Amino acid sequence: MEPAVSFENVEVDYDGKPILTGVGFNVLPGEIVGLVGASGSGKTTLLRHLIGLNQPAQGEIRIFGERLNQLPHASRQHLRQRIGVLFQGGALFSSLTVFENVALPLNERGLEDSWIQPMVCLALSLAGLAPETAPLMPSELSGGMVTRVALARCLVIEPELLLLDEPTSGLDPIVSDAFIAVVLNLQKNLGITVLMISHDLRALKRLCHRVIIVGEGRLLAEGRIDNLEQSRDPRIRAFFRLDEETNP
Ligand SMILES: Nc1ncnc2c1ncn2[C@@H]1O[C@H](COP(=O)(O)OP(=O)(O)OP(=O)(O)O)[C@@H](O)[C@H]1O
Ligand SMILES: [Mg+2]
Repeated sequence: MEPAVSFENVEVDYDGKPILTGVGFNVLPGEIVGLVGASGSGKTTLLRHLIGLNQPAQGEIRIFGERLNQLPHASRQHLRQRIGVLFQGGALFSSLTVFENVALPLNERGLEDSWIQPMVCLALSLAGLAPETAPLMPSELSGGMVTRVALARCLVIEPELLLLDEPTSGLDPIVSDAFIAVVLNLQKNLGITVLMISHDLRALKRLCHRVIIVGEGRLLAEGRIDNLEQSRDPRIRAFFRLDEETNP
C-alpha cells in the first residue's frame, strides 16, 4: 500500500542549524498517527516541511507518493487540495466571519456562491457546529469553537489527509472528547488519514493507532502506545508520565 505520507532520511533546519536529522517514517492510508515530543523538539517544523512551506536540507518527503517540491505548479495545487491543515491555535482570520473563514478555500477555487453555501453548512455540521455559528466573528467564539471552525475549514475541501497541530490544547475534557469523536467519525466513515501533533495523552490514547516520538534532534521511538508504555527508556517513560503514576 502506498503511504499517504513518507519521510525518508529527512533533515530539517533553520538557517543551517539542524532541528531534526535522519527522520524516517510512514503514515498509511486510513491511519491516525500521533506526532509527539517536548515543546521545541521540531514537530511543527516537520509539518511545515511536509506541506512545502519549508524545504528539507536533506532527504525526501512524499505525500501520496509525490514529492511536493518537484511537482509543476498545477499538480502541486491539486495535491494541496487533498490535504486539510489545522494550524496550532486555529489561525482563523479575525476580520472574517465563521462562514467566510470556512468558505475561503472554496472561494480560492472559484466556486459559485450557490455551491459554497451548502458546502460550508455541511462542513460546519461535520465539525459539530450549529448553522447559527456562521455569522459570528472569531472574537465571539470559545477556544473549542475556534478549533472546530478551523476543522470545518479543513473539511470543506473534503481532504483525504488531515494534518492537525495541537488541536485539543487548551480545551476542557468534554470539548476535547467531542473533538476526538468528530475525528474518529471522519476516519471511520470517510477513511480519512490523520497525522496529529499533540501533547494531550488522553486524546492520543483515544485516537491514534500509532505514535512517533521526536526528541534530541531525531526520532526517539515509534509504535503503538500500549507497546511504548512497556519501554524501559526513561525519555519514553517520562513522556507517558509512567513513573509519576507509579510513584506519585
Ligand atoms: N522560523 C523559525 N526560525 C528559526 N528557528 C525556528 C523557527 N521556528 C521554530 N524554530 C525553532 O525550531 C525548534 C523547533 O520548533 P517547533 O515550533 O517545530 O517546535 P514544536 O515541537 O512544534 O514545539 P511546541 O510543542 O512548543 O509547538 C525550536 O527550537 C524553535 O525555536
Ligand atoms: Mg508546535
